[in-house]
Amino acid sequence: MKCAIILAGGKGTRMKSERPKVMCEVLFEPMLYYVVDAVKEAGVQDICVITGYEHQVVEDYLAKLDGGIKTVLQSPQLGTGHAVMQARAFINQHTEDDILILNGDGPLIDAETISKSYQYHRNNNNAITLLSAKVEKPFGLGRIKRDKNGTLLKIVEEKDATDEEKQIHEVNSGLYWFKGEGLLYAIDNLTNDNAQKEYYLTDTLEILIKKGRNKGAYIAENSDVILGANDRRQLRDLNDIMRGHINDAHMLSGVDIPCTDGVMIGKRVKIGNSTRILPNTIIIGDTVIGDNCVIGPNAYLDNATIGDEVVLDNTKVLDSTIEDGVDCGPFVKVRAGSVLKKGVHIGNFVEVKNSVVGEGTKSAHLTYIGDSDVGADVNFGCGTVTCNYDGKTKSRCTIGDGVFVGCNTNLIAPVTVGDRAYIAAGSTITDDIPADALSVARAYQHNKEGWVIKKKPYKEKNK
Ligand code: UD1
Ligand code: CA
Repeated sequence: MKCAIILAGGKGTRMKSERPKVMCEVLFEPMLYYVVDAVKEAGVQDICVITGYEHQVVEDYLAKLDGGIKTVLQSPQLGTGHAVMQARAFINQHTEDDILILNGDGPLIDAETISKSYQYHRNNNNAITLLSAKVEKPFGLGRIKRDKNGTLLKIVEEKDATDEEKQIHEVNSGLYWFKGEGLLYAIDNLTNDNAQKEYYLTDTLEILIKKGRNKGAYIAENSDVILGANDRRQLRDLNDIMRGHINDAHMLSGVDIPCTDGVMIGKRVKIGNSTRILPNTIIIGDTVIGDNCVIGPNAYLDNATIGDEVVLDNTKVLDSTIEDGVDCGPFVKVRAGSVLKKGVHIGNFVEVKNSVVGEGTKSAHLTYIGDSDVGADVNFGCGTVTCNYDGKTKSRCTIGDGVFVGCNTNLIAPVTVGDRAYIAAGSTITDDIPADALSVARAYQHNKEGWVIKKKPYKEKNK
């Protein structure tokens, strides 16, 4: 059985954030999300996360993400080895298993690297296998020290390294596979005899070597997978790398992204064939998009379900469903709980909230449709407002099929408009309208002929 300990106790002072470092976001998800996801995808069944700084935030997040993940609090925080010591009970349950340990702030780690390092670990019957990487700029990272035959000796932290050791470019990723019983033995023998007076998890390598146990380092094929972020510039770099990976994967699977500027697509998003994503478009959450759509420019989709052949130009969609052939925009907001059925047309400066809009209905401009159930083939004139809020409560409007709503109509909810009813422009509708009726709810017009000449209401023009 494979199990894992994820280290997530650190504050991340250089992030200058109130939140624990692992909760700092890459592509709108906490870094910890990606680590948990990769670990699970690699087939790890039992996961224990070490928390510390603002632990409640991490615990709450994990509980929402996956109720099965265990947490252990490390307080005070005396180093990575000390963090693992807090999980002694967890390790005791897994003495016969392989235990993966990794950092919660390295979101680029992937299941493939975890699985390959695991294979290497098993094939060599190692008590400890570390994931290392060869990097151009090793500064700040633990260096992998080997003898002249290439045999592993130890890991030296930057702060403890000699000038000669600082020249080493093979670094420790912070990801390890241990045999459970070997890990237990190693943490029981850790000391804090080093420059930072911390219990270093890295010292477990030397401890197990001294015990005559098998050890090895699996070198990452792509060194990006070990990258972490200590400040927000590095967080931006991680965003860029991950964004590139995700955009590339979509393009290779048939999504058209002619210019990736400002295109940020979350990891869980699914996009159909031949859909075009135009610049400055953010697509996140559990959004699913069908085939042959045009999304953007300047679209923002969060938890949206989008059908085929949908056009979303300068449109924001939150927690809503948009069916085949709908076109929205520019400057449209579709708020939570809305369904736009097939062929709906929503034009500029229209907001839809918590409403169902029936097939083929059109709202071309400057309209608010809130808390409403709208039938098929309705035509909303410019400037229609569903007045859904009376200052205390929200009420719904029900509008039948084929209704014509004249320009600048106010529908005072709760109100029901029957099928095919026809509302005169400028009406304020307070009562239900039966099917097939004309409703005029405005003052009638009367013209006074010659009134201007008689009353001379204007200032005299300069001659
Ligand atoms: C550690 C490794 C270093 C490696 C680097 C890779 C040690 C001593 N050094 O460096 O060899 O190159 O990772 O990124 O292990 N954490 C806790 N409790 C603590 C300290 C840290 O939970 O008391 C967590 C942090 O939240 C973080 C992870 O452990 O997720 C790594 O800690 P960090 O301080 O970033 O790593 P380093 O010690 O710099
Ligand atoms: Ca109006």
